[in-house]
Amino acid sequence: MADVSGAPPDEATALRAAAMEAGRAPSILNTQPWRWRMRGDELALYADQSRRIASIDPDGRFMTLSCGAALHHARVALAAAGREPAVVRCPDPGDPDLLARVRVAGSHEVRREDVDNERSINRRRSDRRPFPAVTPVPPDTLEALHEAAAGEHAWLHRVGAEQITFLATAGEGAAEIQSKDEAYRADLRTWTGGAHGSGEGVPPETFVSPTERRVPVRDFTLDSGSMLDPGYGDDRYAEYLIVATDEDLPVDWLRAGEAVSAVWLAATTRDLAGSVMSDVVEVPGARTLLAGLLPRRGYPQLVLRFGFDQQQRQPPASPRRPPGSTIDIGS
Ligand SMILES: Cc1cc2nc3c(=O)[nH]c(=O)nc-3n(C[C@H](O)[C@H](O)[C@H](O)COP(=O)(O)O)c2cc1C
Repeated sequence: MADVSGAPPDEATALRAAAMEAGRAPSILNTQPWRWRMRGDELALYADQSRRIASIDPDGRFMTLSCGAALHHARVALAAAGREPAVVRCPDPGDPDLLARVRVAGSHEVRREDVDNERSINRRRSDRRPFPAVTPVPPDTLEALHEAAAGEHAWLHRVGAEQITFLATAGEGAAEIQSKDEAYRADLRTWTGGAHGSGEGVPPETFVSPTERRVPVRDFTLDSGSMLDPGYGDDRYAEYLIVATDEDLPVDWLRAGEAVSAVWLAATTRDLAGSVMSDVVEVPGARTLLAGLLPRRGYPQLVLRFGFDQQQRQPPASPRRPPGSTIDIGS
């Protein structure tokens, strides 16, 4: 944000603040698999391989998507501070963990959308409860979400009523396969059960027990159970949007993560609640089924579920690692 005098912060201050705001980005199992390195007037984003979930993410797709979401959050923070971000993605083929270099390219005229996006960074959270809304998401809102994805070199496919049973089948199939996968269950237990450090992982008060709904979502409840009341929704008017890319390289995963952030922040600004489904992409058979729902050749990266929540209380915000453990500020 600009200071009270209205003057934008200097470049190093703006980049540091952007890395801090990026910490609120969504990430797979709240692993926050990113490291920022600040040197002079450049911020470098690295994937933290030690936080990759081996059982479901052998190639690093979801780790990279998560880093892409953090990158977009940082860009939003810079734009809202009146600084134009300049990003080079995957700049060094010899160092695949270096995902982006970010600099300030000059001043940026702050628009309403920048302010809204930044505000949504702190309002956004995963709401995994079935949505009780009795009205559909308006077409102009859906249009805005499509535009948000297109602005990030990705695209959305809205799962139509005639395709919902296929998405449900993909979700059921993924759940069935993962429920028998011991390595997956061990990873899930680590990241939901408190065996991880503080400030990370998915807390039980943010997930719900399985309930009747059109399309199943990931079941986080192992032995810990859940502490969030699922409420009275049935997801009847939930929208399911497949985030897709034209190619399937790490830079496309990064772009897809930026798109996930852009779409989710735009949805939050429009008072939609949402959550993510990646189990249907993690399991190859389910991913193939999703690809078959796309209207043209493309690669499904994630599914976003949005709807009006209308319940009295938002789910609690999930924790984050302290900035000192994700941001390295050198001279
Ligand atoms: C790549 C990726 C995959 C995710 N997969 C799921 C998922 O399958 N189910 C789910 O409920 N949330 C999923 N999430 C959301 C994270 O669990 C969530 O962002 C994280 O726990 C932090 O919570 P917050 O979104 O409330 O800030 C995913 C997020 C990302 C970026």
